[in-house]
Amino acid sequence: MLNTKLLSDTTENIALAAGIIADGGLVAFPTETVYGLGADALNAEAVGKVYAAKGRPSDNPMIVHIASKADFARLTPYITEDMEKLMEAFWPGPLTMVVPRKPLIPDTTTGGLNTVGIRMPDHLVALELISKSGCPIAAPSANLSGKPSPTVAQHVVDDLDGRVDAILCSNDCQVGIESTVIDMTGERPMILRPGIITRKDLETVLGKVVLMDPTLNQRPEERGDAEFAPKSPGMKYKHYAPNAPMLVFEGNPDDVRCAIVEEKIFRESRGERVAAILFDEKDERAAAQKFFAQLREADKSDVDVILAAAMPEEGIGFSVMNRMLKSAGYNIKKV
Ligand code: TXA
Ligand code: MG
Repeated sequence: MLNTKLLSDTTENIALAAGIIADGGLVAFPTETVYGLGADALNAEAVGKVYAAKGRPSDNPMIVHIASKADFARLTPYITEDMEKLMEAFWPGPLTMVVPRKPLIPDTTTGGLNTVGIRMPDHLVALELISKSGCPIAAPSANLSGKPSPTVAQHVVDDLDGRVDAILCSNDCQVGIESTVIDMTGERPMILRPGIITRKDLETVLGKVVLMDPTLNQRPEERGDAEFAPKSPGMKYKHYAPNAPMLVFEGNPDDVRCAIVEEKIFRESRGERVAAILFDEKDERAAAQKFFAQLREADKSDVDVILAAAMPEEGIGFSVMNRMLKSAGYNIKKV
């Protein structure tokens, strides 16, 4: 057990946290997407401690966070015109670019891959922490492996108190789902993980077709396990799972609402505790922002089952559904 320091996000505390990172320690910190669990990305021993604190498989690479566009050139051997365009349009912001890596980045950080995922977060506390640490910061989401990503400081405390050196507590995360991951190492750019920066946003800036990792559109019944090999190692693990079983209702929005209400009444009559997740399907950003927090609330109130309404799988809705279906283990009811 470590004696975890819980720090508010004052300038002095950010400097203190930066000192911990520079000394090879672990600090959880806010970003605009979700909270991250950070360590010096160039220090293999420090990064190794992140895997241990989260209980994370060691072949799952970490995203390296930088505080200025100039830091990008320190980490990757060349910058293409497409990378320039994406940097210009989306950094700081919720976009991770997978690019070739320079040898100074240890294998521990990249899970042994010869590429590295890099992003510049759009959050002042994160940017100040990175620049004061004097090193790029490797950071996965600051949850225990397999749990919903943390979007509120208390979520991080619940998962990591006693397992990390410090937690920088700030406001709730505004985006709420993790960054879009785009692989820039192939002949065509390919989305490995969808986020609030959508395929359309990327295609508009690049002026060309952006591919989607085909596994993102596959449901378990459409694939054999042997064929399920997402390019992003993290996408293959069981993810985001709440404690309670979860059921996703798909169909016409009105029918879905009715079916959820009926199911809730029925289950409650049997003495079960039920959480319902119903978003306004026209407000995809709100759905993204609240989704993980709602899973954690359901866990806190110790429900027996979570009933969730599917959103249309377009734009940001596609990204929310990517998380929702995984949380539910693809347990779907068509209505
Ligand atoms: O918004 C975010 O991206 C947050 C905040 C903290 O920045 N971070 C985050 O990290 O979600 P994590 O570790 O939970 O997810 C990183 C994802 C994983 O699916 C991982 O496999 C993939 O990015 N990834 C990282 N580096 C990669 C690489 N070189 N090639 C392919 N996938 C990579
Ligand atoms: Mg994660």
